[in-house]
Amino acid sequence: MGKRPEWLDNAVFYEIYPQSFMDTDGDGIGNINGITEKLPYIKELGCNALWINPCFDSPFGDAGYDVSDYYKVAPRYGTNDDIVKMFEEAHKLGIHVLLDLVPGHTSWDHPWFKESMKAERNEYTDRYIWTDSIWEEPKGYGSLRGISDRDGSCLVNFFSHQPALNYGFYKPERPWQQAMDAEGPMATRKAMMDVIRFWLSKGCDGFRVDMAGSLVKNDEDSKGTIALWQDVRNFLDKEYPNAAFVSEWGEPDKSLQAGFHMDFLLHFGPSHYNDLFRCGKPYFGGEGDASEFVKKYLESYEKSERKGLICIPSGNHDMERLAYYIHDDRLKIAFAFLLSMPGAPYIYYGDEIGMRYIEGLTSKEGGYSRTGARSPMQWDDSVNAGFSSAPANDLYIPIDPDAKRPTVKKQITDDNSLFSEVKKLISVRQSHKALQNLGDIEFISDGANGKPLAYIRSFDGEKILVAINPADNPAEIKTDCNIVEQIYKFGEDPEIKKDSIVLKGKAVVFALI
Ligand code: NOJ
Repeated sequence: MGKRPEWLDNAVFYEIYPQSFMDTDGDGIGNINGITEKLPYIKELGCNALWINPCFDSPFGDAGYDVSDYYKVAPRYGTNDDIVKMFEEAHKLGIHVLLDLVPGHTSWDHPWFKESMKAERNEYTDRYIWTDSIWEEPKGYGSLRGISDRDGSCLVNFFSHQPALNYGFYKPERPWQQAMDAEGPMATRKAMMDVIRFWLSKGCDGFRVDMAGSLVKNDEDSKGTIALWQDVRNFLDKEYPNAAFVSEWGEPDKSLQAGFHMDFLLHFGPSHYNDLFRCGKPYFGGEGDASEFVKKYLESYEKSERKGLICIPSGNHDMERLAYYIHDDRLKIAFAFLLSMPGAPYIYYGDEIGMRYIEGLTSKEGGYSRTGARSPMQWDDSVNAGFSSAPANDLYIPIDPDAKRPTVKKQITDDNSLFSEVKKLISVRQSHKALQNLGDIEFISDGANGKPLAYIRSFDGEKILVAINPADNPAEIKTDCNIVEQIYKFGEDPEIKKDSIVLKGKAVVFALI
């Protein structure tokens, strides 16, 4: 791996879905100034880094993952000046900011695509992937057909309105499939580097990269995509060594080799992430099994040769909220895990107060079942939970209708709230390097059949035992660790024996050893 920005060593991220965070102009949709206004809240929680979902101009067919102008903040969120001001205010508070880069596709409204649809050859003819006859569809991919004078079908990446940008084929097999180093794919690569350069020069601190693992096509082992990102890494090492990049890839052994500093474990892919939080019997629900997760985690950990950070998010805008499957004290226990693992933690806005996943909502901007995880942040008990002064009918997504919905206002002053527990856990993490992003991990109990999860985190001579029991009943962990001092505890006191620790039901302990 190339250079790693030092600020990542103890970064704890907070993900903001800008539509739903804070609306300061009363139009029912969140905006950049709303984020700026709430930076002190993020600081109070203890997060020192942000990831903001796409906030660029877009027709919003996929909530902004369908960009129509990479260089312009969407007017509904504010202006480029507003975002620069937000970067500055965040930096004053010691908070770094990642934007969301969508390099794989654009909206079909993007001017590049409009040019690319034309029958006459022009600068953008090869910016997207077109077959050379309307009668041929790209095998294995969706396509747009019959919408242009140009004769051909255009490959799409996600929804039908998101044509795939052309980064070439690792193994071209048809005449219209261009090699990665052909002129068209290289021009696309350069165009994306220009976008990156533009925002980094405006003061953003890096990017979360959408679908980072799928840029080059016919690339079974991802060798082409890895090479492409290594090229980007070289440019970043030269021009912006302090910029941080996190990939939506889900295979750390590949993405970290590609030069990303961090990769997410996600609800798709081989990680068994769902076993912990989102399945019929999630481990943190008290009856599940974490052992497949641990096995896969260790495989990635070894294979990635500690080149970068493996990040386990509390959730994100694409999956049900954490509180959908896990409740009450067990939410605190899940956070004890999330905030004691290596890699940078990512907290999805509202998860720190246990916001609910709302079922049955009408899809908004291509959200479909994801819409229920994207409802407005619940700040207080004023109108619209303090999110917006707009009439309730004009809100981007309705507020959680539950009269007992959690709010920041209620939780921030309550020492027993989820917010206070998350804040405490972040502060414990920030006081011990062994618990931070680069500390090593060694498992001593893998959570098989609902048994506890236990691991030793270590860094530079400091060693911390983390033991977590989400089950109802007490459980014993065999270990000869010599406990020097307990630095965090949830639930009843553990029983420390000569060669074991007995954790009570729904209990956690972190101890210096
Ligand atoms: C992953 C993003 O997280 C998701 O929200 C989006 O719909 C797809 N990529 C397509 O860009």
